[in-house]
Amino acid sequence: MIKLDIKDAKKFIKTNVFSLQDQVNELHDVIVNKSGLGNDFLGWLDLPLTYDKEELDRIYKLKEQHKGIDAIVVIGIGGSYLGAKAGYEFLKTPFKKQKPELIFAGHHLSANYLKHLLKYLNKKNYVINVISKSGTTTEPAVAFRLLKAHIENKYGVEEARKRIFATTDKARGSLYQLAINEGYERFVIEDNVGGRFSVLSAVGLLPFVFVGIDVEKMIKGAQDAYHDAQDPSLKKNKAYLYAVTRFLLNQSGKDVEYLINYEPRLAFFAEWWKQLFGESEGKGGKGLLVHSASFTTDLHSLGQQIQDGNRIIFETVLNVKKTDKLSIPFVEEDLDKLNYIAGKEISYVNEQAFLGTKEAHIDGGVPNIVITIDKMDAYHFGYLVYFFEIACAMSAYLLEVNPFDQPGVEAYKKNMFRLLGKK
Ligand code: PA5
Repeated sequence: MIKLDIKDAKKFIKTNVFSLQDQVNELHDVIVNKSGLGNDFLGWLDLPLTYDKEELDRIYKLKEQHKGIDAIVVIGIGGSYLGAKAGYEFLKTPFKKQKPELIFAGHHLSANYLKHLLKYLNKKNYVINVISKSGTTTEPAVAFRLLKAHIENKYGVEEARKRIFATTDKARGSLYQLAINEGYERFVIEDNVGGRFSVLSAVGLLPFVFVGIDVEKMIKGAQDAYHDAQDPSLKKNKAYLYAVTRFLLNQSGKDVEYLINYEPRLAFFAEWWKQLFGESEGKGGKGLLVHSASFTTDLHSLGQQIQDGNRIIFETVLNVKKTDKLSIPFVEEDLDKLNYIAGKEISYVNEQAFLGTKEAHIDGGVPNIVITIDKMDAYHFGYLVYFFEIACAMSAYLLEVNPFDQPGVEAYKKNMFRLLGKK
């Protein structure tokens, strides 16, 4: 469950948010009846209920077969990377040595990173999960060439085949073909599930299962978010209320939405969120410019600009209610003058930083939406993923853009291929 508070955004909007209810009702029908733009990519809509249980069982068995490994290398980019990375960071305990460790590759073209990764893997007992829906994306394909050679060298071709799992299209593409030829264990990204909406499919579930994340709880969170989104009433449907609020803020001249966190474990969730909204809405000259910041860290870098710069910003704060208990010690000399908060929980101090910042930013003309989750666990990760996905579909439809394509992503590829001399 989450709480959504829009009162500190409402005062910056001239239109009453609830006056959009009729439009929301119509768009809700368009979403659930799958009759709108990009409607052949709405497979994620029912995924919390219809996810492939047989496939999930196979993932558990695969994990069992490979127990004792040191690392799983997940190769992918964009929607085939960010969800797993976001979930892993959201749920992992800081500084705890993870076994198996989750390592990512194929999310850039850095020779420096790849060279050192290969060296690092020399001494590791590892498996590979290569993820690409199209099977033709350059970054993961390059990384997979290198890692395939490495793992074959290390274990021999036969054993390497048992250690490589491919998550890709069910019937086409070069990764699909390669997986068939080599006999890799295969997992499917359905045609109607786009990359950035795929984290609750094998794309996210396989890495999560391998590192011991409770995916049943995660799916339960997503199911609850699914049920909570069935009624389009803005009095009940928080995802739609969030979508309408950010839409109206945009119409009131706020062009930039910052997703703010006060917990470092949420920083990568913001990267996933940025792709979701940026790639879904940013087309045809439309869409909010999505940004993120980690407070209080970034209050010491971006704080000035947010408080006092170009007044085109609003903030959506992802707030966590319960975190660890740790209090500030009392020190006799009090040279740092902190004894006035000695004995107080650090989470209490963090909360006061949040409240103080919110007040200052609102005074400075920065509207605030606050989304509060109880804690950072698998349930809330699953809930938030579905919450933002359905909010994103509504947001993009309010803007009259197709949420599910990404024609702009092709532009850089065309140039890169031309410069590389691809035929
Ligand atoms: O959301 C998307 O569709 C993209 O970000 C893709 O996930 C990304 O480009 C990777 O594509 P693929 O999985 O085909 O390698």
